[in-house]
Amino acid sequence: MPSFELLLAEFENQFKDRLFPSTPANLYNAIAYVLDNRGKRIRPVLCLMGNVLTGPLQLDAFQAANAIELYHNFALVHDDVIDRTPLRRGKPAVHIRYNTPTAILTGDTILLYAYEYLNRIQGRYKHKVMQTFNEAARAVCEGQQMDLDMETLPLQSIAYQDYLQMITLKTAVLVAASLQIGAIIGGAFTDDQEHLYAFGKYLGTAFQVQDDYLDAFGDFRKTGKQPGDDIITNKKTFLLVKAYELCNNAQKSLLQELLALPIADKIPAVLQLYKDCKVGDWALKEKDRLQHLALQHLESMSVPAVNKRPLLELATLLLNRQY
Ligand code: IPE
Ligand code: IPE
Ligand code: MG
Ligand code: MG
Ligand code: MG
Repeated sequence: MPSFELLLAEFENQFKDRLFPSTPANLYNAIAYVLDNRGKRIRPVLCLMGNVLTGPLQLDAFQAANAIELYHNFALVHDDVIDRTPLRRGKPAVHIRYNTPTAILTGDTILLYAYEYLNRIQGRYKHKVMQTFNEAARAVCEGQQMDLDMETLPLQSIAYQDYLQMITLKTAVLVAASLQIGAIIGGAFTDDQEHLYAFGKYLGTAFQVQDDYLDAFGDFRKTGKQPGDDIITNKKTFLLVKAYELCNNAQKSLLQELLALPIADKIPAVLQLYKDCKVGDWALKEKDRLQHLALQHLESMSVPAVNKRPLLELATLLLNRQY
């Protein structure tokens, strides 16, 4: 099976031919602003990887990969509005660079073009692809609402299990669906599709654990995001939920006091508490646990081991990523 780099190059090669018109300029310039500042392209490449597990790359897999990457970018534009985030991929977020109404319309239009690509799929599996895509797309919205609701819920009312459910919906399901959609197009057996979906779900969950870790401890020059954003908005990340669970009573009171402060000045104190409670060590173990579960599903798939290798390598890379 081709490597991540090779599939990425194939993806980029055709994704640069865009369907978008040029007017109204304020809308389409904002869309170009988003799409020209590319991210890691993990989801479209996963879709292509799912597709080549069983045979040569298909044109329909590229249509689906384009739709998935567009959907992801729509979600990010709206996510930055929802999270009040100033930076994305090292640049001002769309609602900062333009304005919030334009960011909403930019996201909406990108989303509609995602469906335009899906509609170009030719094979008889189109209905199943649409269904899998839509289910994942709706899960993202549900997870995003839960993420938002949790900002204002008291810390003591949230269990790690609630966090896991929320990140499964907002992040993991799309990673899983990207792989499965590629496999559906490739004609993989239903059992294999299910294992691949489960692999993606655990991988996606660990991916969000790492994202939350990087929000607190990452390097802006690599992540392109403002450090400590989740702390400012009281996001109930695993860092916060686990720190509260692991810390002593004095630290619990301190954490509650810090949460009540609506200012960025609290970031260093919260980070210190995370360090004191060793949530970083805990995250390493949790990523290991999730990776192990993911790999069990990959092993269970009835495709040659050599075809699975790039997925295995990518999983390791993603869980230790610094950007
Ligand atoms: C960011 O995803 C949103 C999350 C689900 C954590 P990525 O880290 O894949 O974003 P880009 O596309 O590479 O910028
Ligand atoms: C994932 O969560 C966002 C989406 C599902 C779109 P985050 O809010 O943590 O993502 P980043 O950190 O802003 O990229
Ligand atoms: Mg965000
Ligand atoms: Mg968010
Ligand atoms: Mg984040």
